[in-house]
Amino acid sequence: MATDVGPDPHRSLPPGPARAPRRPRRRRLAATLTATVGGVAAAAMVAVFAASPASAASPLRQLAEAQGRYFGTAVTQNMLSNSTVTNLAGAQFDMVTPGNEMKWDTTEPGNGSYNYGPGDQIVSFAQSHSMRVRGHNLVWHSQLPSWVSSLPTNQVQAAMEAHITNEVTHYKGKVYSWDVVNEPFDDSGNLRTDVFYQAMGTGYIADALRTARAADPNAKLYLNDYNIEGSGAKANAMYNLVSSLKSQGVPLDGVGFESHFIVGQVPSTMQANLQRFAALGLDVAVTELDDRMPTPASQANLNQQATDYGNVVKWCLAISRCVGVSQWAVGDPDSWIPSAFPGYGAATMYDSNYQPKTAYNSVVTALSGGSTPPPTTAPPTTAPPTTAPPTTAPPTTAPPTGGAGGCRVGDTISAWNTGLTANLTITNTGSTPINGWSLVFTLPSGQTITSGWNATYTPTSGPVTATNLGYNGSLPAGGSTTIGFQANHTGNTAAPTSFSLNGRACALG
Ligand code: G3I
Repeated sequence: MATDVGPDPHRSLPPGPARAPRRPRRRRLAATLTATVGGVAAAAMVAVFAASPASAASPLRQLAEAQGRYFGTAVTQNMLSNSTVTNLAGAQFDMVTPGNEMKWDTTEPGNGSYNYGPGDQIVSFAQSHSMRVRGHNLVWHSQLPSWVSSLPTNQVQAAMEAHITNEVTHYKGKVYSWDVVNEPFDDSGNLRTDVFYQAMGTGYIADALRTARAADPNAKLYLNDYNIEGSGAKANAMYNLVSSLKSQGVPLDGVGFESHFIVGQVPSTMQANLQRFAALGLDVAVTELDDRMPTPASQANLNQQATDYGNVVKWCLAISRCVGVSQWAVGDPDSWIPSAFPGYGAATMYDSNYQPKTAYNSVVTALSGGSTPPPTTAPPTTAPPTTAPPTTAPPTTAPPTGGAGGCRVGDTISAWNTGLTANLTITNTGSTPINGWSLVFTLPSGQTITSGWNATYTPTSGPVTATNLGYNGSLPAGGSTTIGFQANHTGNTAAPTSFSLNGRACALG
Protein backbone atom coordinates (compact mmCIF):
# COMPACT_ATOMS: atom_id res chain seq x y z
CA MET A 1 0.00 0.00 0.00
CA ALA A 2 1.30 3.38 -0.82
CA THR A 3 1.83 5.43 2.27
CA ASP A 4 1.23 8.83 0.75
CA VAL A 5 -2.31 8.26 -0.41
CA GLY A 6 -5.09 6.47 1.38
CA PRO A 7 -7.03 3.84 -0.51
CA ASP A 8 -10.09 6.04 -0.89
CA PRO A 9 -11.28 5.38 -4.41
CA HIS A 10 -13.18 8.64 -4.53
CA ARG A 11 -10.15 10.69 -3.96
CA SER A 12 -7.91 11.92 -6.64
CA LEU A 13 -4.25 11.69 -5.63
CA PRO A 14 -1.72 14.19 -4.98
CA PRO A 15 2.00 13.46 -6.72
CA GLY A 16 7.67 15.80 -13.66
CA PRO A 17 10.29 18.41 -17.97
CA ALA A 18 8.54 20.46 -20.47
CA ARG A 19 9.93 21.67 -23.35
CA ALA A 20 13.05 19.87 -22.47
CA PRO A 21 15.49 22.08 -24.20
CA ARG A 22 17.30 24.28 -21.79
CA ARG A 23 18.38 27.22 -23.90
CA PRO A 24 15.67 27.59 -26.47
CA ARG A 25 16.49 29.72 -29.44
CA ARG A 26 14.53 30.27 -32.57
CA ARG A 27 16.29 30.99 -35.78
CA ARG A 28 15.63 31.33 -39.42
CA LEU A 29 18.37 30.58 -41.87
CA ALA A 30 19.45 33.38 -44.07
CA ALA A 31 21.39 31.95 -46.94
CA THR A 32 20.56 29.84 -49.93
CA LEU A 33 23.06 27.21 -50.80
CA THR A 34 23.14 24.16 -52.96
CA ALA A 35 23.43 20.73 -51.44
CA THR A 36 24.53 17.59 -53.11
CA VAL A 37 22.50 14.45 -53.23
CA GLY A 38 25.16 12.12 -54.52
CA GLY A 39 25.44 8.69 -53.01
CA VAL A 40 23.49 9.74 -49.96
CA ALA A 41 20.22 9.81 -51.83
CA ALA A 42 20.96 6.30 -52.90
CA ALA A 43 21.53 5.08 -49.39
CA ALA A 44 19.22 2.47 -48.05
CA MET A 45 16.61 4.08 -45.89
CA VAL A 46 16.97 3.05 -42.29
CA ALA A 47 14.14 4.09 -40.02
CA VAL A 48 15.59 5.88 -37.05
CA PHE A 49 12.34 5.66 -35.28
CA ALA A 50 9.87 2.85 -35.64
CA ALA A 51 6.21 2.39 -34.84
CA SER A 52 5.09 0.30 -31.90
CA PRO A 53 4.03 -3.24 -32.69
CA ALA A 54 0.78 -2.50 -30.93
CA SER A 55 -0.24 0.26 -33.27
CA ALA A 56 0.46 1.48 -36.75
CA ALA A 57 0.25 5.08 -35.60
CA SER A 58 3.42 7.06 -34.99
CA PRO A 59 4.76 6.44 -31.48
CA LEU A 60 3.69 8.82 -28.73
CA ARG A 61 7.24 10.09 -28.29
CA GLN A 62 7.47 11.00 -31.96
CA LEU A 63 4.15 12.80 -31.92
CA ALA A 64 5.03 14.60 -28.68
CA GLU A 65 8.47 15.63 -29.96
CA ALA A 66 6.83 17.08 -33.06
CA GLN A 67 4.96 19.34 -30.65
CA GLY A 68 8.15 20.23 -28.73
CA ARG A 69 7.03 18.07 -25.80
CA TYR A 70 7.97 14.73 -24.29
CA PHE A 71 5.79 11.78 -23.42
CA GLY A 72 7.06 9.91 -20.40
CA THR A 73 6.48 6.80 -18.36
CA ALA A 74 7.45 5.45 -14.94
CA VAL A 75 9.74 2.44 -14.90
CA THR A 76 10.80 0.37 -11.93
CA GLN A 77 13.78 -1.99 -11.66
CA ASN A 78 11.66 -5.14 -11.82
CA MET A 79 10.15 -4.03 -15.14
CA LEU A 80 13.58 -3.99 -16.79
CA SER A 81 13.63 -7.78 -17.06
CA ASN A 82 10.39 -7.89 -19.06
CA SER A 83 11.22 -7.30 -22.72
CA THR A 84 7.58 -6.67 -23.61
CA VAL A 85 7.64 -3.74 -21.22
CA THR A 86 11.07 -2.43 -22.13
CA ASN A 87 10.42 -2.66 -25.89
CA LEU A 88 7.11 -0.88 -25.53
CA ALA A 89 8.52 1.76 -23.20
CA GLY A 90 11.48 2.42 -25.47
CA ALA A 91 9.34 2.63 -28.59
CA GLN A 92 6.58 4.84 -27.23
CA PHE A 93 8.08 7.07 -24.56
CA ASP A 94 11.02 9.47 -24.48
CA MET A 95 11.16 10.28 -20.77
CA VAL A 96 11.56 7.92 -17.83
CA THR A 97 10.73 8.54 -14.20
CA PRO A 98 12.15 5.88 -11.88
CA GLY A 99 9.13 4.61 -9.89
CA ASN A 100 11.08 4.04 -6.68
CA GLU A 101 14.80 3.80 -7.42
CA MET A 102 15.87 7.38 -6.73
CA LYS A 103 13.91 7.78 -3.51
CA TRP A 104 15.75 8.33 -0.23
CA ASP A 105 15.01 4.85 1.18
CA THR A 106 16.83 3.34 -1.79
CA THR A 107 19.59 5.85 -2.37
CA GLU A 108 20.67 6.48 1.23
CA PRO A 109 19.31 3.63 3.36
CA GLY A 110 21.82 4.40 6.12
CA ASN A 111 23.28 7.74 7.14
CA GLY A 112 26.05 8.49 4.65
CA SER A 113 25.66 5.07 3.00
CA TYR A 114 24.63 5.56 -0.60
CA ASN A 115 23.23 3.05 -3.08
CA TYR A 116 22.78 4.16 -6.67
CA GLY A 117 22.70 0.72 -8.32
CA PRO A 118 18.93 0.56 -8.93
CA GLY A 119 18.71 4.16 -10.12
CA ASP A 120 21.73 3.68 -12.37
CA GLN A 121 19.97 0.75 -14.05
CA ILE A 122 17.00 2.94 -14.88
CA VAL A 123 19.28 5.67 -16.24
CA SER A 124 21.16 3.17 -18.35
CA PHE A 125 17.89 1.78 -19.75
CA ALA A 126 16.77 5.31 -20.58
CA GLN A 127 20.07 6.24 -22.25
CA SER A 128 20.08 3.12 -24.38
CA HIS A 129 16.64 4.05 -25.70
CA SER A 130 17.33 7.76 -26.23
CA MET A 131 15.05 8.65 -23.36
CA ARG A 132 15.64 11.38 -20.82
CA VAL A 133 15.11 11.02 -17.06
CA ARG A 134 13.04 12.89 -14.51
CA GLY A 135 14.80 12.45 -11.19
CA HIS A 136 12.23 11.48 -8.56
CA ASN A 137 12.69 12.48 -5.77
CA LEU A 138 15.02 14.12 -3.27
CA VAL A 139 12.96 15.19 -0.25
CA TRP A 140 9.69 13.46 0.62
CA HIS A 141 7.96 12.50 3.84
CA SER A 142 7.26 9.02 2.38
CA GLN A 143 9.71 6.24 1.52
CA LEU A 144 12.01 7.98 3.93
CA PRO A 145 14.35 5.73 5.93
CA SER A 146 13.70 5.70 9.65
CA TRP A 147 17.19 6.98 10.45
CA VAL A 148 16.18 10.32 8.97
CA SER A 149 12.90 10.67 10.82
CA SER A 150 14.59 9.78 14.09
CA LEU A 151 17.42 12.27 13.79
CA PRO A 152 17.68 14.98 16.45
CA THR A 153 16.11 18.13 15.05
CA ASN A 154 19.40 19.97 14.90
CA GLN A 155 20.88 17.35 12.55
CA VAL A 156 18.11 17.23 9.95
CA GLN A 157 19.21 20.14 7.81
CA ALA A 158 22.76 18.84 7.43
CA ALA A 159 21.43 15.38 6.57
CA MET A 160 19.03 16.78 3.99
CA GLU A 161 21.66 18.95 2.35
CA ALA A 162 24.18 16.08 2.27
CA HIS A 163 21.60 13.76 0.74
CA ILE A 164 20.65 16.24 -1.96
CA THR A 165 24.23 17.15 -2.75
CA ASN A 166 25.35 13.55 -2.99
CA GLU A 167 22.46 12.29 -5.12
CA VAL A 168 22.28 15.27 -7.45
CA THR A 169 26.04 15.16 -7.94
CA HIS A 170 25.88 11.43 -8.70
CA TYR A 171 23.31 12.00 -11.44
CA LYS A 172 24.70 15.31 -12.66
CA GLY A 173 24.30 15.59 -16.42
CA LYS A 174 22.15 12.46 -16.53
CA VAL A 175 18.78 13.79 -15.45
CA TYR A 176 16.63 16.39 -17.10
CA SER A 177 14.93 17.45 -13.91
CA TRP A 178 14.54 16.76 -10.20
CA ASP A 179 11.44 16.61 -8.11
CA VAL A 180 13.32 18.35 -5.33
CA VAL A 181 10.50 18.40 -2.80
CA ASN A 182 7.74 15.90 -3.38
CA GLU A 183 4.23 16.32 -2.01
CA PRO A 184 4.95 19.09 0.50
CA PHE A 185 1.25 19.68 1.23
CA ASP A 186 -1.32 17.63 3.07
CA ASP A 187 -4.80 17.19 1.68
CA SER A 188 -6.04 20.44 3.23
CA GLY A 189 -3.28 22.46 1.66
CA ASN A 190 -1.16 22.85 4.80
CA LEU A 191 2.54 22.10 4.64
CA ARG A 192 3.07 18.65 6.05
CA THR A 193 4.63 18.75 9.50
CA ASP A 194 7.23 16.15 8.58
CA VAL A 195 10.74 15.88 9.96
CA PHE A 196 12.00 18.56 7.55
CA TYR A 197 9.32 21.06 8.46
CA GLN A 198 9.78 20.38 12.15
CA ALA A 199 13.49 21.06 11.89
CA MET A 200 13.50 24.04 9.51
CA GLY A 201 9.96 25.32 9.13
CA THR A 202 8.83 26.41 5.68
CA GLY A 203 12.41 27.33 4.83
CA TYR A 204 13.37 23.73 4.20
CA ILE A 205 11.90 23.99 0.71
CA ALA A 206 14.03 26.95 -0.37
CA ASP A 207 17.06 25.34 1.26
CA ALA A 208 16.48 22.09 -0.63
CA LEU A 209 16.10 23.92 -3.94
CA ARG A 210 19.25 26.00 -3.42
CA THR A 211 21.23 22.92 -2.45
CA ALA A 212 20.08 21.07 -5.57
CA ARG A 213 20.92 24.03 -7.81
CA ALA A 214 24.41 24.23 -6.37
CA ALA A 215 24.99 20.53 -7.12
CA ASP A 216 23.70 20.59 -10.72
CA PRO A 217 23.01 24.01 -12.21
CA ASN A 218 21.61 22.43 -15.39
CA ALA A 219 18.88 20.23 -13.98
CA LYS A 220 15.37 21.66 -13.94
CA LEU A 221 14.15 21.90 -10.36
CA TYR A 222 10.55 21.05 -9.56
CA LEU A 223 8.06 20.86 -6.74
CA ASN A 224 5.65 17.99 -7.38
CA ASP A 225 2.30 17.23 -5.76
CA TYR A 226 -1.12 15.62 -6.20
CA ASN A 227 -4.60 17.09 -6.04
CA ILE A 228 -3.30 20.41 -7.31
CA GLU A 229 -4.38 19.80 -10.92
CA GLY A 230 -7.67 21.67 -10.68
CA SER A 231 -8.52 24.81 -8.75
CA GLY A 232 -8.93 24.37 -5.02
CA ALA A 233 -7.36 25.03 -1.63
CA LYS A 234 -4.39 22.76 -2.20
CA ALA A 235 -3.69 24.20 -5.66
CA ASN A 236 -3.89 27.68 -4.13
CA ALA A 237 -1.47 26.69 -1.40
CA MET A 238 1.03 25.47 -4.01
CA TYR A 239 0.46 28.61 -6.08
CA ASN A 240 1.14 30.85 -3.08
CA LEU A 241 4.24 28.86 -2.16
CA VAL A 242 5.79 28.98 -5.61
CA SER A 243 4.90 32.66 -6.06
CA SER A 244 6.69 33.42 -2.84
CA LEU A 245 9.72 31.29 -3.78
CA LYS A 246 9.97 33.00 -7.17
CA SER A 247 9.71 36.46 -5.65
CA GLN A 248 12.58 35.58 -3.29
CA GLY A 249 14.72 34.42 -6.19
CA VAL A 250 14.79 30.82 -5.00
CA PRO A 251 15.84 28.53 -7.87
CA LEU A 252 12.65 26.83 -9.03
CA ASP A 253 11.96 25.88 -12.64
CA GLY A 254 8.74 23.99 -12.63
CA VAL A 255 5.75 22.48 -10.92
CA GLY A 256 4.71 18.88 -11.42
CA PHE A 257 1.04 17.98 -11.37
CA GLU A 258 0.86 14.30 -10.59
CA SER A 259 -2.61 13.71 -12.05
CA HIS A 260 -3.72 10.47 -10.44
CA PHE A 261 -7.30 10.69 -11.59
CA ILE A 262 -10.53 8.77 -11.24
CA VAL A 263 -12.33 8.16 -14.48
CA GLY A 264 -14.78 10.95 -15.30
CA GLN A 265 -13.42 13.16 -12.51
CA VAL A 266 -10.63 15.01 -14.27
CA PRO A 267 -11.03 18.62 -13.12
CA SER A 268 -12.36 20.87 -15.85
CA THR A 269 -10.32 23.73 -14.37
CA MET A 270 -7.04 21.95 -15.05
CA GLN A 271 -5.92 23.92 -18.10
CA ALA A 272 -6.65 27.28 -16.49
CA ASN A 273 -4.96 26.19 -13.29
CA LEU A 274 -1.78 25.02 -15.03
CA GLN A 275 -1.79 28.21 -17.07
CA ARG A 276 -1.70 30.41 -13.97
CA PHE A 277 1.36 28.55 -12.71
CA ALA A 278 3.02 28.89 -16.13
CA ALA A 279 2.28 32.61 -16.01
CA LEU A 280 4.58 32.84 -12.99
CA GLY A 281 7.44 31.98 -15.34
CA LEU A 282 7.49 28.29 -14.51
CA ASP A 283 7.43 25.15 -16.58
CA VAL A 284 4.51 22.89 -15.79
CA ALA A 285 4.33 19.15 -16.39
CA VAL A 286 1.87 16.33 -15.92
CA THR A 287 4.08 13.95 -14.03
CA GLU A 288 2.23 10.80 -12.98
CA LEU A 289 -0.89 10.50 -15.08
CA ASP A 290 -3.23 7.59 -14.54
CA ASP A 291 -7.02 7.32 -14.57
CA ARG A 292 -8.47 4.52 -12.51
CA MET A 293 -11.83 2.79 -12.65
CA PRO A 294 -13.57 -0.14 -10.96
CA THR A 295 -12.38 -3.48 -12.34
CA PRO A 296 -13.25 -5.30 -14.45
CA ALA A 297 -13.39 -2.25 -16.67
CA SER A 298 -16.63 -1.43 -18.45
CA GLN A 299 -16.56 -0.18 -22.04
CA ALA A 300 -18.28 3.01 -20.89
CA ASN A 301 -15.48 3.69 -18.42
CA LEU A 302 -12.82 2.89 -21.00
CA ASN A 303 -14.48 5.39 -23.34
CA GLN A 304 -14.57 7.99 -20.58
CA GLN A 305 -10.92 7.24 -19.86
CA ALA A 306 -10.12 8.01 -23.50
CA THR A 307 -11.85 11.36 -23.14
CA ASP A 308 -9.97 12.03 -19.91
CA TYR A 309 -6.54 11.18 -21.30
CA GLY A 310 -7.22 13.13 -24.50
CA ASN A 311 -8.28 16.19 -22.52
CA VAL A 312 -5.21 16.18 -20.30
CA VAL A 313 -2.91 15.99 -23.33
CA LYS A 314 -4.85 18.69 -25.20
CA TRP A 315 -4.70 21.00 -22.20
CA CYS A 316 -0.97 20.51 -21.84
CA LEU A 317 -0.44 21.26 -25.54
CA ALA A 318 -2.47 24.43 -25.17
CA ILE A 319 0.04 25.79 -22.64
CA SER A 320 3.36 26.72 -24.16
CA ARG A 321 5.22 26.05 -20.91
CA CYS A 322 3.66 22.64 -20.39
CA VAL A 323 6.70 20.63 -21.28
CA GLY A 324 5.35 17.11 -21.25
CA VAL A 325 3.09 14.42 -19.91
CA SER A 326 4.22 11.30 -18.09
CA GLN A 327 2.09 8.28 -17.36
CA TRP A 328 2.67 6.48 -14.04
CA ALA A 329 3.53 2.96 -15.36
CA VAL A 330 3.87 1.50 -18.84
CA GLY A 331 0.75 -0.67 -18.76
CA ASP A 332 -1.91 -1.83 -16.34
CA PRO A 333 0.21 -4.72 -15.04
CA ASP A 334 2.80 -2.23 -13.74
CA SER A 335 0.39 0.20 -12.14
CA TRP A 336 0.40 0.89 -8.40
CA ILE A 337 -3.40 1.37 -8.42
CA PRO A 338 -4.72 -2.17 -7.73
CA SER A 339 -2.58 -2.54 -4.61
CA ALA A 340 -3.33 0.94 -3.30
CA PHE A 341 -7.03 1.01 -4.26
CA PRO A 342 -8.34 -2.57 -4.17
CA GLY A 343 -11.12 -3.08 -6.72
CA TYR A 344 -9.72 -0.35 -8.95
CA GLY A 345 -7.30 -0.53 -11.83
CA ALA A 346 -7.14 -0.34 -15.64
CA ALA A 347 -5.61 3.10 -15.11
CA THR A 348 -3.10 3.28 -17.98
CA MET A 349 -3.29 3.42 -21.78
CA TYR A 350 -2.16 -0.23 -22.14
CA ASP A 351 -4.26 -3.20 -21.01
CA SER A 352 -3.20 -6.28 -19.13
CA ASN A 353 -1.63 -7.68 -22.33
CA TYR A 354 0.08 -4.39 -23.15
CA GLN A 355 -2.30 -3.75 -25.98
CA PRO A 356 -3.27 -0.11 -26.51
CA LYS A 357 -6.68 0.89 -25.23
CA THR A 358 -8.95 3.50 -26.67
CA ALA A 359 -7.21 6.01 -24.38
CA TYR A 360 -4.03 5.47 -26.39
CA ASN A 361 -5.83 6.33 -29.62
CA SER A 362 -7.29 9.38 -28.00
CA VAL A 363 -3.82 10.57 -26.96
CA VAL A 364 -2.50 9.95 -30.48
CA THR A 365 -5.33 12.10 -31.81
CA ALA A 366 -4.65 14.86 -29.29
CA LEU A 367 -0.93 14.84 -30.06
CA SER A 368 -1.71 14.98 -33.76
CA GLY A 369 -3.64 18.20 -33.34
CA GLY A 370 -7.12 16.74 -33.09
CA SER A 371 -7.29 14.37 -36.02
CA THR A 372 -5.90 10.90 -36.18
CA PRO A 373 -3.17 10.69 -38.79
CA PRO A 374 -3.15 7.79 -41.20
CA PRO A 375 -0.77 4.98 -40.33
CA THR A 376 2.85 5.40 -41.19
CA THR A 377 4.60 3.10 -43.60
CA ALA A 378 7.45 2.51 -41.20
CA PRO A 379 7.96 -1.21 -40.68
CA PRO A 380 6.66 -2.28 -37.26
CA THR A 381 9.60 -3.06 -35.04
CA THR A 382 10.51 -2.48 -31.47
CA ALA A 383 14.18 -2.10 -32.13
CA PRO A 384 15.71 0.97 -30.54
CA PRO A 385 16.82 3.77 -32.79
CA THR A 386 19.55 2.51 -35.02
CA THR A 387 22.78 4.14 -35.87
CA ALA A 388 23.48 1.78 -38.72
CA PRO A 389 25.85 3.27 -41.24
CA PRO A 390 24.56 4.09 -44.68
CA THR A 391 24.94 1.61 -47.43
CA THR A 392 25.39 2.28 -51.07
CA ALA A 393 22.53 0.02 -52.13
CA PRO A 394 20.22 1.67 -54.61
CA PRO A 395 16.79 2.73 -53.36
CA THR A 396 14.16 0.09 -53.86
CA THR A 397 11.25 2.49 -53.97
CA ALA A 398 10.07 4.34 -57.03
CA PRO A 399 11.70 7.73 -57.41
CA PRO A 400 9.67 10.70 -56.23
CA THR A 401 7.66 12.45 -58.89
CA GLY A 402 6.46 15.95 -59.61
CA GLY A 403 7.62 19.09 -57.87
CA ALA A 404 8.46 21.40 -60.71
CA GLY A 405 9.53 24.60 -59.08
CA GLY A 406 11.18 25.24 -55.78
CA CYS A 407 11.16 24.47 -52.14
CA ARG A 408 11.83 26.30 -48.91
CA VAL A 409 13.02 24.92 -45.58
CA GLY A 410 12.70 26.80 -42.30
CA ASP A 411 14.28 25.50 -39.14
CA THR A 412 13.77 25.92 -35.42
CA ILE A 413 16.51 24.68 -33.14
CA SER A 414 16.24 24.41 -29.37
CA ALA A 415 19.47 23.39 -27.70
CA TRP A 416 20.52 22.45 -24.21
CA ASN A 417 23.85 21.37 -22.75
CA THR A 418 24.28 18.12 -24.65
CA GLY A 419 21.32 17.90 -26.99
CA LEU A 420 19.06 19.75 -29.32
CA THR A 421 15.69 19.48 -30.96
CA ALA A 422 15.30 20.57 -34.58
CA ASN A 423 12.05 21.11 -36.41
CA LEU A 424 12.23 21.58 -40.17
CA THR A 425 9.29 22.94 -42.14
CA ILE A 426 9.43 21.98 -45.78
CA THR A 427 7.31 24.01 -48.19
CA ASN A 428 6.61 23.19 -51.81
CA THR A 429 7.01 26.61 -53.44
CA GLY A 430 6.54 25.18 -56.91
CA SER A 431 3.40 25.08 -58.98
CA THR A 432 2.90 21.32 -59.12
CA PRO A 433 2.43 18.75 -56.37
CA ILE A 434 5.32 16.75 -54.98
CA ASN A 435 4.59 13.06 -54.58
CA GLY A 436 7.27 11.53 -52.42
CA TRP A 437 10.29 13.46 -51.26
CA SER A 438 13.79 13.14 -49.87
CA LEU A 439 15.37 16.04 -48.06
CA VAL A 440 19.16 16.09 -47.94
CA PHE A 441 21.18 18.16 -45.50
CA THR A 442 24.48 17.91 -43.64
CA LEU A 443 24.55 17.86 -39.86
CA PRO A 444 27.30 20.00 -38.35
CA SER A 445 30.24 18.12 -36.87
CA GLY A 446 29.49 16.50 -33.52
CA GLN A 447 25.73 16.23 -34.02
CA THR A 448 24.18 12.76 -34.05
CA ILE A 449 20.48 12.14 -34.43
CA THR A 450 19.05 10.04 -31.64
CA SER A 451 15.40 10.04 -32.64
CA GLY A 452 13.28 11.59 -35.33
CA TRP A 453 9.69 12.16 -36.29
CA ASN A 454 7.61 12.49 -39.44
CA ALA A 455 10.45 11.13 -41.61
CA THR A 456 13.10 8.45 -41.65
CA TYR A 457 16.64 9.71 -41.25
CA THR A 458 19.73 8.00 -42.58
CA PRO A 459 22.46 8.01 -41.58
CA THR A 460 22.40 9.76 -38.20
CA SER A 461 25.37 12.07 -38.68
CA GLY A 462 27.12 13.85 -41.51
CA PRO A 463 25.12 14.05 -44.75
CA VAL A 464 21.60 12.93 -43.85
CA THR A 465 18.66 12.01 -46.04
CA ALA A 466 15.21 12.48 -44.52
CA THR A 467 12.53 10.61 -46.41
CA ASN A 468 8.78 11.11 -46.14
CA LEU A 469 6.50 8.70 -44.33
CA GLY A 470 3.28 7.41 -45.84
CA TYR A 471 1.09 10.22 -44.67
CA ASN A 472 3.21 13.23 -45.54
CA GLY A 473 4.69 12.31 -48.91
CA SER A 474 2.27 14.44 -50.90
CA LEU A 475 2.93 18.15 -50.83
CA PRO A 476 0.50 20.14 -52.94
CA ALA A 477 1.73 23.37 -54.52
CA GLY A 478 2.12 25.78 -51.61
CA GLY A 479 1.76 22.94 -49.11
CA SER A 480 4.14 22.28 -46.27
CA THR A 481 5.00 19.65 -43.69
CA THR A 482 7.08 19.74 -40.55
CA ILE A 483 9.57 17.05 -39.62
CA GLY A 484 12.09 16.98 -36.83
CA PHE A 485 14.68 15.19 -34.82
CA GLN A 486 16.51 15.14 -31.57
CA ALA A 487 20.30 15.03 -31.66
CA ASN A 488 23.25 14.89 -29.33
CA HIS A 489 25.92 17.51 -29.85
CA THR A 490 29.42 18.22 -28.65
CA GLY A 491 29.12 21.98 -28.59
CA ASN A 492 28.13 22.94 -32.10
CA THR A 493 24.37 23.54 -32.07
CA ALA A 494 24.17 25.16 -35.50
CA ALA A 495 21.53 24.17 -38.03
CA PRO A 496 22.40 22.65 -41.37
CA THR A 497 23.38 25.40 -43.78
CA SER A 498 21.64 24.02 -46.83
CA PHE A 499 18.87 21.67 -47.87
CA SER A 500 17.86 20.04 -51.11
CA LEU A 501 14.53 18.42 -51.84
CA ASN A 502 14.48 15.71 -54.49
CA GLY A 503 17.81 17.00 -55.69
CA ARG A 504 16.70 20.61 -55.95
CA ALA A 505 18.28 23.26 -53.69
CA CYS A 506 15.80 24.90 -51.34
CA ALA A 507 15.52 28.46 -50.19
CA LEU A 508 16.04 28.95 -46.47
CA GLY A 509 13.72 30.62 -44.06
O1 G3I B 1 10.77 -2.93 -1.44
C1 G3I B 1 9.72 -3.58 -0.69
C2 G3I B 1 9.91 -5.08 -0.72
O2 G3I B 1 11.12 -5.40 -0.07
C3 G3I B 1 8.72 -5.73 -0.04
O3 G3I B 1 8.84 -7.10 -0.16
C4 G3I B 1 7.43 -5.28 -0.69
C5 G3I B 1 6.22 -5.84 0.04
O4 G3I B 1 5.11 -5.02 -0.09
O5 G3I B 1 7.35 -3.87 -0.63
C6 G3I B 1 8.39 -3.23 -1.32
O6 G3I B 1 8.22 -1.85 -1.21
C7 G3I B 1 7.19 -1.31 -1.98
C8 G3I B 1 7.78 -0.25 -2.90
O7 G3I B 1 6.76 0.42 -3.62
C9 G3I B 1 8.77 -0.84 -3.92
O8 G3I B 1 8.11 -1.74 -4.71
C10 G3I B 1 6.20 -0.64 -1.05
O9 G3I B 1 5.53 -1.64 -0.30
C11 G3I B 1 5.18 0.15 -1.82
O10 G3I B 1 4.39 0.89 -0.91
C12 G3I B 1 5.87 1.13 -2.74
O11 G3I B 1 4.88 1.77 -3.45
C13 G3I B 1 5.31 2.89 -4.19
C14 G3I B 1 4.65 4.16 -3.65
O12 G3I B 1 5.03 5.26 -4.45
C15 G3I B 1 5.04 4.47 -2.23
O13 G3I B 1 4.40 5.63 -1.84
C16 G3I B 1 4.89 2.69 -5.63
O14 G3I B 1 5.62 1.58 -6.15
C17 G3I B 1 5.17 3.93 -6.42
O15 G3I B 1 4.59 3.78 -7.72
C18 G3I B 1 4.53 5.13 -5.73
O16 G3I B 1 4.80 6.27 -6.46
C19 G3I B 1 4.28 7.47 -5.94
C20 G3I B 1 5.21 8.59 -6.34
O17 G3I B 1 6.52 8.31 -5.92
C21 G3I B 1 4.74 9.91 -5.75
N1 G3I B 1 3.38 10.16 -6.12
C22 G3I B 1 2.43 9.10 -5.85
C23 G3I B 1 2.88 7.80 -6.47
C24 G3I B 1 1.88 6.71 -6.20
O18 G3I B 1 1.77 6.46 -4.84
